[in-house]
Amino acid sequence: MLQELELPLPNDFHIHLRQGEALVNYAKSAGEQFGLVMAMPNTEPAIDSPELVKKYKEEILAAAPNLQVLLTFKLNKNYTEQELLAMQKNGAVAAKYYPFGVTTNSQDGVSKIEDIYPTIALLEKLDLVLSLHGEEPGVFCLDKEKDFLKHLEKLSKTFPKLRIVLEHVSCVEAVECVKSLPENIAATITVHHLILTLDDIIGDSLRPQNFCKPLPKLPKDRDAVRAAAFSGNKKFFFGSDSAPHALEKKQSLSGAAGVYSAPVAVPILIEEFEKENKLNLLADFVSNFGADFYKIPRQTKKATYVKKEWQVPKTIDGAVPLRAGETLKWS
Ligand code: DOR
Ligand code: ZN
Repeated sequence: MLQELELPLPNDFHIHLRQGEALVNYAKSAGEQFGLVMAMPNTEPAIDSPELVKKYKEEILAAAPNLQVLLTFKLNKNYTEQELLAMQKNGAVAAKYYPFGVTTNSQDGVSKIEDIYPTIALLEKLDLVLSLHGEEPGVFCLDKEKDFLKHLEKLSKTFPKLRIVLEHVSCVEAVECVKSLPENIAATITVHHLILTLDDIIGDSLRPQNFCKPLPKLPKDRDAVRAAAFSGNKKFFFGSDSAPHALEKKQSLSGAAGVYSAPVAVPILIEEFEKENKLNLLADFVSNFGADFYKIPRQTKKATYVKKEWQVPKTIDGAVPLRAGETLKWS
């Protein structure tokens, strides 16, 4: 039986590190888990200028000096080429598109994606990545991702050279769509969408710690996401979408969406890949494929994981982590 596993340092291509005091803790803890993170821009105010990109990067690095940090900025308006070049210079590699109102801090989202096509054309020109929160506003919650796919298909046709990431894929149709599109269209997969279904949120009791966007869906959807992760297809790589919210914000009559997975993500991934007899594909999923897509060097440093049980704390830095109170097999 395997007792020890060496992996390249994990790269998390989608994480929420928040801001202020919270950022210090979440960035530190991300630094203990990952070699590299790509930080999402949905802070308040949003990261949407070259100055804010620079400041956010500095704040993260002050808390986690050894972490490699890639930045994103929010695509909540059109930008000039000069602005985009300055974003790039300050460390941004992707522009994040949030449709209006679909998730945490997206009230400034764009209602009609065609309105920002001028900027998307510039992203293609400058080889910046378009990162998509792929949910259609105003439709039934379980159909939101499926109904967004028409936009992805149109973007792929209109901007054939643009690299696009459909973030946190969560349904069969999205997995199939990404597979069917050209090489420059990829998707991130979270740990929670690999293991949760709606049952884990509203089945036997209401579990707000598992509530997130996009919603974990039906068993067939989870299984499609799993199959993509375990397929060895380079279009599918790890982005945790770790999104901590203080306990009070989750236990509320209008609870915040987000699963806090960063402290447990890699141990759970090892467990799941081991279960499927696919540990040979984990290094690519958790580190290499994302680096290749973002055209950055693969990690050369390694991390060693040992089969040693530990109990996930009930809260970490004020937020309830995924699988809180449960025992994980790998440390
Ligand atoms: O569940 C989510 N939480 N999904 C997102 O897209 C955003 C995130 C957050 O920032 O809390
Ligand atoms: Zn996210």
